Amino acid sequence: MTEQPYGIPPHGGQLINRIATPAERQEFLDQADRLPRLPLDERAVSDLVMIAIGGFSPLKGFMEQVDYEQVVTDMRLSNGLPWSVPITLSVTEEVADSLKEGSWVRLDDPQGNFVGILELTQKYHYNKVHEATNVYKTDDDKHPGVAVIYQQGPVNLAGPIWLLQRDPHPLFPAYQIDPATSRAAFQERGWKTVVGFQTRNPIHRAHEYIQKCALETVDGLFLHPLVGATKSDDIPADVRMRCYEIMMDKYFPSDRVILAINPSAMRYAGPREAIFHALIRKNYGCTHFIVGRDHAGVGDYYGTYDAQYIFDEFKPEELGITPMKFEHAFYCTRTQSMATTKTSPSTPEERIHLSGTKVRALLRDGKLPPPEFSRPEVAAELIQAMQG
Ligand code: ADX
Repeated sequence: MTEQPYGIPPHGGQLINRIATPAERQEFLDQADRLPRLPLDERAVSDLVMIAIGGFSPLKGFMEQVDYEQVVTDMRLSNGLPWSVPITLSVTEEVADSLKEGSWVRLDDPQGNFVGILELTQKYHYNKVHEATNVYKTDDDKHPGVAVIYQQGPVNLAGPIWLLQRDPHPLFPAYQIDPATSRAAFQERGWKTVVGFQTRNPIHRAHEYIQKCALETVDGLFLHPLVGATKSDDIPADVRMRCYEIMMDKYFPSDRVILAINPSAMRYAGPREAIFHALIRKNYGCTHFIVGRDHAGVGDYYGTYDAQYIFDEFKPEELGITPMKFEHAFYCTRTQSMATTKTSPSTPEERIHLSGTKVRALLRDGKLPPPEFSRPEVAAELIQAMQG
């Protein structure tokens, strides 16, 4: 039996490791020139990595049809485990026709490097509108997650994968902390309860407020910004990470907070993605997960708290990670502190909150977001990045 990692059990009970052993890697390399080659886009590479490092446990590969269908309609894998977002590898008819079930496919990254192997067990067609309306709650092609489905091929390739090797992240090697390592880090610090935080935006004071409120009740905070593919108008990951470094230096206690990257791609699936994000953090060893306002939302597709309500559709023990839900936080000029309507008697005029769009507009005009919204050092970093 494989040794179980420290902390709460991973989703499905076992932390998956699909990184090729040296012997497997040699075998794959020996065959590299004879295998059919499939170029992956950035999102597929990040899915490959997440499966391999155990971030998507219990998945060992891209989903077969039985899992896919049940995830789309019922938010469950075929064995009944909760899972809310399909993990699939889509190709054109021509590519699908050229590949044989039962064979190995060489997976290349967008630069043509050999990065993994797919043992192709199944090819199947799927219904794009059905996937969009179930997972994203809309069939609108303006939704960035739905747009990805409409642009991808009509056939899903399924089967277990291997990652050829785990390379250091080219931009953030120091923050590449995979699930086995984060669990070891929590153990080393003696943390029994850890709250995970998902983000795709530069850190602002409402983020900091809910992170610290959560940390008041648990042993550690796992800051886990997503650095995989995002939509083009989101702030780039390197800028966001610099903002986090500033915060770690000045505003967070280093013995209570770990900053690490989440390599996955953003889906913008709102409520469904909140469940997905929570399960990923469970695999990293978190016992709790922050879900604030419009988590993983985009535009007006989801209600402000839909991503919180969806947790009620599962039994707590099925998910195995506890959501920590926060209302819309703002700076309250009456109490001169961060707050929500739960804790502040303010009138709407006494609340300072800016949308991401407004902040981007300010930055583009060379204006600093106010200190009630952003720590000044973070604002300075953002303005420099937007203008440089
Ligand atoms: S997300 O797409 O990754 O969810 P973002 O980075 O903005 O976007 O949010 C990270 C987390 O902070 C999410 O749980 C989100 O709900 C929460 N959040 C962001 N802004 C606020 C706010 N003003 N009040 C409460 N929660 C917030």
